Amino acid sequence: MRVLFTTSEVFPLIKTGGLADVSGSLPAALQHLGVDIRLLIPGYPAVLNQLSHLKPIAKLENLPMLAQADLLLGEIAQTKVKVMVIKAASLYERDGGPYADANGLEWLDNALRFGILSKVAAMLSGAHSPLSDWQPDIVHCNDWQTGLTPAYMKLLEHSSAKSVISLHNMAFQGCFAPAWLSTLALPHRNFAIDGFEYHGQLSFLKAGIFYADSVTTVSPSYAKEIQTAEFGFGLEGLLSQRGNEIKGILNGIETSEWNPNTDPHLIKNYNAKSLTGKKQVKRALQEKLALHTNANAPLLGVVSRLTHQKGLDMLVPIMQTLVDAGCQFALLGNGETALESAFRALALNNPGQVSVTIGYNEALSHQIMAAADLFIMPSRFEPCGLNQMYGLAYGTPPVVNATGGLADSVTDTNLISFKNKTANGFVMSEASSASLLSAIKQALNVYTNDAAAWRQIQINGMSQNLSWDKSALAYLATYQALLEA
Ligand code: ADP
Ligand code: GLC
Repeated sequence: MRVLFTTSEVFPLIKTGGLADVSGSLPAALQHLGVDIRLLIPGYPAVLNQLSHLKPIAKLENLPMLAQADLLLGEIAQTKVKVMVIKAASLYERDGGPYADANGLEWLDNALRFGILSKVAAMLSGAHSPLSDWQPDIVHCNDWQTGLTPAYMKLLEHSSAKSVISLHNMAFQGCFAPAWLSTLALPHRNFAIDGFEYHGQLSFLKAGIFYADSVTTVSPSYAKEIQTAEFGFGLEGLLSQRGNEIKGILNGIETSEWNPNTDPHLIKNYNAKSLTGKKQVKRALQEKLALHTNANAPLLGVVSRLTHQKGLDMLVPIMQTLVDAGCQFALLGNGETALESAFRALALNNPGQVSVTIGYNEALSHQIMAAADLFIMPSRFEPCGLNQMYGLAYGTPPVVNATGGLADSVTDTNLISFKNKTANGFVMSEASSASLLSAIKQALNVYTNDAAAWRQIQINGMSQNLSWDKSALAYLATYQALLEA
């Protein structure tokens, strides 16, 4: 089976969030299952610099607004997954991130940048594609950036391949002015409710959901939630037409990257049998972040984009109370300016107890995950969430809101779950500061007063199988069902 997996970010080449983690791991897991898989990604500078031995395999011609572009082929060293790269300097070779410039302003031509990504994926799947003799049976798209692919496949390329779109976040839809229709050579007759029109705009995500042969999302709970007005971001109607067809497949974690027993970012490794290394990692992080080196102070960790989705504004009003009760905080993240300032102020007012690092730092994210006693993730919605699973693997019980993949991966600690050894974290009863405080207090109560119970909760999480194996099998079954249909 040949699968083309198209995505706008992939770890370790380029990452802004969990989509990169998934795009790094899932194709590798599918390759282990015998799937002949290739990635298709834009040639950002970080991609071109990190992939050595890229070789040109085709000239890309007749693309919208582009005199010339090249299709290159390379391989990701760590996983040996083959990757096709679109080299188009005018579109992708810029300073800044994949979606925005260094100041966070979205690129004004994102419709073109990701329209071309979508178009090339579709061209590769066309019958007798002149681009490559490697023809996929399945084209697997991810999020709005690749949402036009299924539309191009059905309407223009007359592709015989089947398309799948995975929804990682309904909050981002890729809506653009209708003038882009002509630029992107999309048929005007499909700019309609049964097509890619959404409130007068061209919606990449709607196109994906409408034209894909199969729709998946990244947790069973989110698959249900997005069919409601609260979580569907306006597309709940279309999604509920596909109803039970939408498969929720929980993400896994990359156990070669996220394993406390082998993690090279830690001064000491540890595992479920011996957690002493975790204490040393905590002390080292306290020193590094200028926190008081107090082994008994509960250390609360946060690694996150600082956006409304992640609910960390609910943490701000209760942080001082927790600090006054003896807690320490190690926070790493970036995003909304108001939230960044609020956390910075808390750090200034509480030297030795609150550390706030604004920015993106892979090594520090591992160190916080390992050093912290509790991981705080009060998301208002969370399609899957990977950080809570990293917390489970690192013996850092997560405190989460009961939504999406958080609800599907974290079991609240109570008498029953403790007895049957499924308790692995603490779950808020609703998305509010009061509820977050109460869940954290419950956790602290066990942490401070019952070391044996705390260790059991840590071990319950650490001994779960969070690897990609099971999820990759579910994607394979999805592909097989499409090919047999
Ligand atoms: P989302 O994709 O919505 O941001 P996930 O939990 O799925 O949420 O994935 C977030 C990923 O990005 C994780 O791998 C996390 O460690 C990483 N991450 C988020 N913010 C930072 C940061 N400031 N520095 C380093 N890694 C970060
Ligand atoms: C999105 C979601 C996150 C999910 C990730 C990977 O960024 O916000 O919940 O884990 O995609 O699927």
